[in-house]
Amino acid sequence: MRHIKHAFCLSLVTLGLTACGGGGGKSTSVAASSMAPGSVAASSVIASSAPASSTPASSVAPSSVAAPSSTPASSIAPPSSFAASSSSAAATLVNLSVTSGWRGNGDGNSGITYSSDGVSFTAAGDNLGAVTDIAAPIQLEDAVFTMIVKVSSEFKSSGASLQPFAQIKGGAWAGEWDCWAGNDLFTAGSDVTITCTIAEADKKFDQTANDVQIGVQAKGTPTGVVTIKSASVTLKQKASNSSGASSSAASAYSANVNSLRELATFPIGVAVSNTDSPSYNILTNASEKTLVEKHFDQMTAGNIMKMSYLQPSQGNFTFTNADAFVDYAKSKNINIHGHALVWHSDYQVPNFMKNWSGSAADFLTALETHITNVVDHYEAKDNLVSWDVVNEALTDGTPSNFRTTDSTFYVKSGNSAVYIERAFKAARAANAGVKLYYNDYNIEQNNSKTNKMIEMVTDFQARSIPIDGIGFQMHVCLNYPTATTIAAAMKKVVDKGLMVKITELDVAINQPYCDNYPANKISAFTQTVALAQKKRYCEIVKAYLDTVPANLRGGISVWGTTNANTWLDDLYRTQFDNQKISWPLLFDSSYNDKPALRGFADALQGTACSNL
Ligand code: XIL
Repeated sequence: MRHIKHAFCLSLVTLGLTACGGGGGKSTSVAASSMAPGSVAASSVIASSAPASSTPASSVAPSSVAAPSSTPASSIAPPSSFAASSSSAAATLVNLSVTSGWRGNGDGNSGITYSSDGVSFTAAGDNLGAVTDIAAPIQLEDAVFTMIVKVSSEFKSSGASLQPFAQIKGGAWAGEWDCWAGNDLFTAGSDVTITCTIAEADKKFDQTANDVQIGVQAKGTPTGVVTIKSASVTLKQKASNSSGASSSAASAYSANVNSLRELATFPIGVAVSNTDSPSYNILTNASEKTLVEKHFDQMTAGNIMKMSYLQPSQGNFTFTNADAFVDYAKSKNINIHGHALVWHSDYQVPNFMKNWSGSAADFLTALETHITNVVDHYEAKDNLVSWDVVNEALTDGTPSNFRTTDSTFYVKSGNSAVYIERAFKAARAANAGVKLYYNDYNIEQNNSKTNKMIEMVTDFQARSIPIDGIGFQMHVCLNYPTATTIAAAMKKVVDKGLMVKITELDVAINQPYCDNYPANKISAFTQTVALAQKKRYCEIVKAYLDTVPANLRGGISVWGTTNANTWLDDLYRTQFDNQKISWPLLFDSSYNDKPALRGFADALQGTACSNL
């Protein structure tokens, strides 16, 4: 079964990538409240945060009734040891009263009632809930709000879920609608902690001019009663300047890793966003910079060095954005792994190539021109040390073969895989010293694909086609494939005398092609899950160290900085019902360490892999 599931991964991943478009940008639903703005402010601000900057609120026009129709993303409560802490020096806690200041929200709500338990509302329909206000001036971007809630048995059995949310008042009503607490989290009559991180791609809460209302609403076809027993907001303190250390948001977890890269004798890399994702742009986001400069000595551009970004129309090479990124890296002693010279994925193949109507010979020349120009350009910068020359040219089927009709390159080369060797030759001709990789996914677990790849490189070596190494993307599951399987695949490459690089590592907690999804979907990133992921990261890095001799280690790169910016939640947005439940990276969405970081470090330090 596993092989069948993963075989489908090929086409679906490919389709998904195509659908993702250039930036994987997120579409956040925006809703508005129909209730008259109230006025009672939050109580007991325990400490005050640094003054905020003044980006204006979203200009989204108000609509008449609350709540988006789509099911938003999850930011389910961590267990207490991972939860927001009021004592963190970098965070400030705002306690919200549950004895006054609340009102019913949504058309047709029946108001709220107070009791010794807290504030309750009747969940008589979709989008009905309760809200309270936090008075301006308050900076809520990147804040985390936490509620302890209890639902009645009627609510539990209605199958409804809850959505914590925040909305800017004063006319705009733009909101944070990505949070979610699914029905499966609740037990009738028991307390459940739900959290929501106010972190929108467009930073609509990065302002202090307006009051904000914070609340929770029922979703689905709810009945019964929901009681909010406590509510609080942990504010994030802003970095004092753009190059200085950013604040750590509220989190109790520290991996105690000063610098991951200092623990390794080979490159430790990370994929970063640039102009393809303005919120997480490594050149403008101080938190991204701080994190990357601390832990990594290699970067891969998540998108902006792909073909259509560098040569959108024939002969029109646009290096400005990529140059800024490469130059920034150089100023921080960070090397670049170039990604990717040739990749069939539709969104990044320039139209002039897709629509090529000339001869195959001329197409191959045009392909070589792209490679020669790009490789030459970055040879001059000298911190670009390696390239993914060709990405994902093989199929997942059994037997695996070269992609055919779904690859522009195969088709326009005259229905031939000759473009692959031509690409490697052109790259080598342009730069004699840069390392040249063939890069693919599933080659760590699909024997048929691994063997086809080995057959290809054996042929290359026999015919002196230049190739230095194999990039294992390694978008893997929490429990699959096993470390033994991964090691066996890498050994095949080592046996060819080629370098092994893990190029795009992420360990998905949920992923539609992992065995646990959707039947055994993991709804909350609990401590148990976080520690399982820690062990898993450790085992993968250990498998690499045990299998690949030092002279063949091209390094290990993770595909993204924090969970907030993982490509997986975008790729599987539909299957995930818009929930952000892959949690695959080393840092949480507030730039805090995850146990996964400790796991990675454990392997580098020779500490036994453990889920403790
Ligand atoms: C992904 C990017 O991370 C997304 O932002 C984009 O929308 C799609 O491409 N394998 C690769 C990478 O080789 O280039 C892909 O990057 C992830 C899968």
